[in-house]
Amino acid sequence: MSEKTESTERMTEEKIGEITEHFRGLLREQYKRAEALKRGTAARKEGGNIRIGFIDGDGIGPVIMREARRVLRELLKDEAGRVEMTDIEGLTIENRLRQGVSVPAETLEQIRTCDVLLKGPTETPKGGTMESANVTLRRELDLFSNVRPVRVKEKGIDWTFFRENTEGEYALGSSGAEIPGVLAVDFKVTTDEGTRRIARAALDFAAANGKTNVCIVTKANILKKTDGKFSAICHEVAKEYPGISADDYYIDIMCANLLNEEIRDRFQVFVLPNLYGDIITDEAAQIQGGVGTAGSANIGSRYAMFEAVHGSAPRLIAEGLGEYASPESILRAAAMLLSHIGYGQKSAALTAALDRAAEQVVCDGTRKGRRASEFGDAVLAALSEK
Ligand code: IPM
Ligand code: MG
Repeated sequence: MSEKTESTERMTEEKIGEITEHFRGLLREQYKRAEALKRGTAARKEGGNIRIGFIDGDGIGPVIMREARRVLRELLKDEAGRVEMTDIEGLTIENRLRQGVSVPAETLEQIRTCDVLLKGPTETPKGGTMESANVTLRRELDLFSNVRPVRVKEKGIDWTFFRENTEGEYALGSSGAEIPGVLAVDFKVTTDEGTRRIARAALDFAAANGKTNVCIVTKANILKKTDGKFSAICHEVAKEYPGISADDYYIDIMCANLLNEEIRDRFQVFVLPNLYGDIITDEAAQIQGGVGTAGSANIGSRYAMFEAVHGSAPRLIAEGLGEYASPESILRAAAMLLSHIGYGQKSAALTAALDRAAEQVVCDGTRKGRRASEFGDAVLAALSEK
């Protein structure tokens, strides 16, 4: 063997050793997390005021959040004794890059003083090792259930997606390993308890809302361990719910099914691992009219965070079109927030007002479209009309 080959082999072995050690550490961490989940998680605060935190985010975030604040302040103006609202600054890409962390410690501390959050989109640096602020917040606040409703009345579509929000491909997405120039690996983690709790969330929702079927969507034919477990545990949980059937689908065919007009109105509730949930909910939102039209709720047992499905749209800002962004998605999220904190009627009123406003005012992100503030005005006008 030449000297060069020998030294390459030695370096490769060293690297494999390093990665194995790295993997051992990750496994230990995830094992601890999984065991902790079995012992249960923090419960929702009892009594006292409900504290809502507003986080602007990046790009078009401040524009759409301005409209959301306006609308929520109006809807909650008589609730001063029960609901508090506060602004949380510091979750900007500039501050995060300056501090070199995805969520600065003092910002997280402020966030933890709140019960629920309404959050504008935050930018995620591509590459590097900085985790997305969304992913960090979902993990730190243990927001395990990502609920994304999609409705198109005239087409008979009424879907609710339950995306597992703290595990799967996202849990260690910034902790992969690489042998440069040769290969890279990432890790996907599925825990028993993590799956059980998202399955329960989906089935509880189904039971409470008169749904009769839940679709379990995986790729268990390929990812046999993680997705195999996900599917098996979802079925196990579903057995506890008489009158609700559970069907397995693979994610690829389900993506096609959502476009199949002959069958898609039969689907009701979906439960899926993190990454598939991420992808298919963008597709579903597009069927509803675009990612700008869908709201998203990240629910845990202690905290909940509501946000738009779309990102921070840096292109709109670069082109000076920020004011033409649509606040519809964040306002749909605000409606989910209201319902979550017990204001079902206000939530329904906001949803109805949004349906009206969306017919009258179209913000398409161009100068030909209308401004975010005009959309906000239309929502407020619709609210005051009823
Ligand atoms: C979403 C977003 C996030 C995700 C990004 C911004 C990290 O796409 O909420 O769907 O991938 O979960
Ligand atoms: Mg997404």
